[in-house]
Amino acid sequence: MAKHNSLNLGKEITLTIDGKVCKSTFGKTIIEVARANDIYIPTMCYLTKVKPIASCRMCIVDVEGVDGAILSCQEKATDGAVITTNNDELYTERQNIMKLYNVNHPLECGVCDKSGECDLQNKTMEFDLKEQPFTARDQHRPVENWGHVSYDPALCIMCEKCVRVSTEITGDEALQLKFGGYSSTIVNTKKDKNYASLGEAAAVCPVGALVDTHFKYTTNAWELEKIPSACPHCGGGCQMTYEVKNDTIYRMTNNYEFTSLCGAGRYGFDYANKNVTKDKKAFAQAVEAMKSAESIIFAPQISNEESLILQKIKELTGAKLISGEARAYQKFMHAYSSVTGKSLYSGTLKAISESTAIIVLGTKINDDAPTLKYHINMASKWNRARVAYMHPIEDVEMKNIVTQFIKYEPQSEEGVAALLVETLLNDVDVPQSVKAFLNDLDIGNLSAESNVGEEELVFLKKSMLKKHGFSLIIGADLYAHPRAEQIAKILALVEKYTDFNVVCVPPVGNAMGVSLICDLDDEATGQTVGYNAEADFTLSALGNGNLDMPAMNQQEGTLTSNDKRVVPMNVAQPYGGYILNDIANALGLHTEYTIDYTKVLPKEKGFKSLEFDALPDYFDTVGTEHRGYLLEQKTVAVDEKFEEVEELDGFNGSIVYTCNPKEQFSAFTNVCKPLEQEAFLVGSSQFATATKVSDGEKVSFSIHGMTFKRVFKIDTSMKGTIALNPTYDMGLSTPLVSSYRFSRVEIQKIGS
Ligand code: SF4
Ligand code: SF4
Ligand code: FES
Repeated sequence: MAKHNSLNLGKEITLTIDGKVCKSTFGKTIIEVARANDIYIPTMCYLTKVKPIASCRMCIVDVEGVDGAILSCQEKATDGAVITTNNDELYTERQNIMKLYNVNHPLECGVCDKSGECDLQNKTMEFDLKEQPFTARDQHRPVENWGHVSYDPALCIMCEKCVRVSTEITGDEALQLKFGGYSSTIVNTKKDKNYASLGEAAAVCPVGALVDTHFKYTTNAWELEKIPSACPHCGGGCQMTYEVKNDTIYRMTNNYEFTSLCGAGRYGFDYANKNVTKDKKAFAQAVEAMKSAESIIFAPQISNEESLILQKIKELTGAKLISGEARAYQKFMHAYSSVTGKSLYSGTLKAISESTAIIVLGTKINDDAPTLKYHINMASKWNRARVAYMHPIEDVEMKNIVTQFIKYEPQSEEGVAALLVETLLNDVDVPQSVKAFLNDLDIGNLSAESNVGEEELVFLKKSMLKKHGFSLIIGADLYAHPRAEQIAKILALVEKYTDFNVVCVPPVGNAMGVSLICDLDDEATGQTVGYNAEADFTLSALGNGNLDMPAMNQQEGTLTSNDKRVVPMNVAQPYGGYILNDIANALGLHTEYTIDYTKVLPKEKGFKSLEFDALPDYFDTVGTEHRGYLLEQKTVAVDEKFEEVEELDGFNGSIVYTCNPKEQFSAFTNVCKPLEQEAFLVGSSQFATATKVSDGEKVSFSIHGMTFKRVFKIDTSMKGTIALNPTYDMGLSTPLVSSYRFSRVEIQKIGS
């Protein structure tokens, strides 16, 4: 695992496709080379982001010297090959394939949701099919409603794309093929879970077989205006397109060939602050409140430009800037950088999916950062990656991916980090000071306190032998830990002295952008103004404060994604009220548009001097991302000093873990109809017994001064004595809950 130079195995090759000389590298398929050279090869089952399905045969090509047509989606291009993608025989064969696809595919295009954007419809025309010579006996196969999506077996062409997405990408593993000749069908083996991730499977369906239930029969696809943007919910900044008609968002789509959306991105779009007009009186009060505020408290659901506006206000008025989660992340990353000497973590999402061994530490990754989990799943499915999941709570949703669960005690993360780093670095050449720190660790004691057995770490190390491509994913449990900075420094050694691809997952929203742009403070004092956070004077995009503000889908601006990319967001919904920039201008900042701040985002933090309108927003034919720009890595001063690992004072009693359920991240996802779910305190039967509460009972408890009243629900898939407590339903109080995620609480019963 020591650092070494990776060998470039991609040998250059030259081949000819349809008379065009094409240069590429060894390992690419013929279709990949063709697409990179703008040469069209028709397909029905090809989906770039999954491994070749090879079920349709539409992609056949002739290769000189090779008998019979070959599948270009599967066959690797070779040096010197001469390839023909189209001739009379290939055309006739493709035409026959299309005839077969049309057998019994009812011509219901007039009422089909896919009409106007259907691959079958398009290729039926492309291959000039005017009549249908084959038939098969009709069978009645009813439409199945699977919650977020619905499935019409009569329209299904069994291309398998949806199954591959469910298995290789999202990892819900809900969809399977059921073979049976003309009765072949797709089955949902996990209907009861109502996975919103199936929205991604519906997105890739080339016909109207698997469709979005929320969108079905609402409008015609061609009437929708497409507005490209980025998802603001979890820190992923995923590529998405709002599809809008008459100021209403009908659905979210994505460039599904190359990217994926989680359920929150796909269905969490209905949170705009609607019907707002300019309230002059409230605006004047807001300006006065901002002038006299000693502290500005804000949620991380904010653009980079707005973050800069707040920073400018701070410089103008001297107000403190308070954003709990972003502040914790900022301090963590500052300590992390002091060891690596680099301003950002160096890991990427792509490298996660290319890994063969992955360690996840301190995050409920399936819910905290869904598309990151997708990348872990890809590595698991494509490279049979070993996945070690280190956390106090086992996650049943990670069961199919995780090869080793290492359970540790809450609050022992500093010891766990030290144990892990000692394991990974004990045979690596490190400076004497680091060696001394590692040698001084009391492994036996750390192991006893954390409950991580030495044999578990030996097993972890062994399982990585002979592997190549390692990733370490660090998450939000660590950022607000009382010893967060020391943990950051210890884990940074992995990035500095090994080949690991390390990603420190930003906690929520645009916390990464905020942490880079704002000079944040620790605690609020005096008069407060809140921006999407409860305060003496509150600016709210939820429409329930003292002055209305636009929601993220009503604003232009940029977000900083967990792949360290600055990505553009566009306006999808109208907004008639005042915005933060109006307040800033009334205070004397004089900048006409919020996006005028895009080009002056801090260069010393890695941002570039680019105008908002100059930011690209597309993927090219081979899937290279051209969205905004990548943050530049900056060199920072190194201070590689470590403290002794602190002894734990014990962490007994009922423990509650602050985390949101799937698809919920904030007060904004909470108001989205398709994502509607009731918030419960959820725990195992063991937790119920230990705390003497029953399923359905109402309880109350406090975390850092905030009181929660919740109904307790038993989840039989859970184990252990830690319950899960969500915060997404806490409205403007949500950003105020930003403490260490495990809390010892007194559970009080307050009746059923
Ligand atoms: S439901 Fe759609 S994507 Fe899935 S196999 Fe059928 S046609 Fe293909
Ligand atoms: S919530 Fe996160 S993972 Fe899901 S689509 Fe949005 S940014 Fe991507
Ligand atoms: S695209 Fe090659 S077989 Fe379908």
